[in-house]
Amino acid sequence: MTASGQLPRRCWVEIDLAALERNLKLIRASLPAQIKFVAVVKADAYGHGLHHVAARLMHAGADLFAVANVAEAMALRELSSDWPVLLLSPVLPDEDRYLADYDLAATVSSAEEVRRFDAVGRKAGKPVAVHLKIDTGMGRLGVWHTQAPALYAQIQAAPGVKLAGVFTHFSSADEDPAFTAEQRRIFLHALDSFTGFNPAGLFIHADNSAGLETAPERSVFNAVRVGLLQFGILPHPHSLLARVHTEPVFSFHTRVGLVKQLPAGTGISYGRTFVLQRDTKVAILTAGYGDGIARAASNRAQVLLNGRRCPVLGRVTMDQTIVDITDVPGPVSSGDPVVLVGHQAGAEISITEFSDWSDTIPWETLCSVTKRVPRLYRTALGV
Ligand SMILES: Cc1ncc(COP(=O)(O)O)c(C=O)c1O
Repeated sequence: MTASGQLPRRCWVEIDLAALERNLKLIRASLPAQIKFVAVVKADAYGHGLHHVAARLMHAGADLFAVANVAEAMALRELSSDWPVLLLSPVLPDEDRYLADYDLAATVSSAEEVRRFDAVGRKAGKPVAVHLKIDTGMGRLGVWHTQAPALYAQIQAAPGVKLAGVFTHFSSADEDPAFTAEQRRIFLHALDSFTGFNPAGLFIHADNSAGLETAPERSVFNAVRVGLLQFGILPHPHSLLARVHTEPVFSFHTRVGLVKQLPAGTGISYGRTFVLQRDTKVAILTAGYGDGIARAASNRAQVLLNGRRCPVLGRVTMDQTIVDITDVPGPVSSGDPVVLVGHQAGAEISITEFSDWSDTIPWETLCSVTKRVPRLYRTALGV
């Protein structure tokens, strides 16, 4: 550990790995027994820390890891030389050789990619694994669905590539069940039109977290591809997935740096966007947008101190945030713990609520906690 690693914490994240493992088991238990679990761990496992999260998910038996790029896949290879890994983002031509070197599966959306990966597999003397992605209405990666049978045929005819999966991605699973049903229908129709298609041994996947909510035909897909829900976060506040009873893995903490009394009429922070209406006791917290409290949450966010909600006053600054603690029961002193996301003394601020205060979504909030914020891991095997 570095010298700074031993310093008292000013702002930190706690990651509950036992909750992560419980969540994976709960999600599995909510699905038919044969469904495989593709754990989406891109962007440093949604900011939770790829190494710790993937190690725990391996222990819990995830079937396949999905990451964005080669760098993330190489980090996984430090944990396991052969656990299946899928790259979700396009592979750049000068990255092709890493597919063979690190035994990675690539997402394929085009004839040009098949040709490139075929060449890599032939040269290596071992076919490159690919998941054929079908665009059923996301408008991002994937071959347009009407052209999918031709690309499937090209893959089958290429000795340097080996089909390992077929998948699609929903654009609006959390808000438009009718469109999601239509994407499912198009996906199935595309699979039906593949000449000689045999799904045995392949990963057939579509459902992200929100997709699980509206998956009537899910038994026809044999794998789910889950990010957010494994971290105990629902894709939207009224999600039916509450029935799965996952619990948050992530919590976000800071501390009181200074307590002081200010008279009514005082302007608070840069730009004086908040003016005190009463004599007010304020606490200056030791975290700001340099840690991951969005500036857009200025004058909107709340924090927990002694189990009481305290409003943020004025603009969030780089290293400090000011809150009103006038109504907090009991003494408040420099060093006291403050919860930004999580539980304290029976009160809770969810990551969804925290995200709403800056007009964003939990996915982005998790990716926005900066690298100066240490992640502390709770590892107990409490399953
Ligand atoms: C292609 C793909 N599949 C699956 C996921 C996981 O989605 P979620 O975190 O909503 O479960 C993502 C997330 O961004 C994705 O891009």
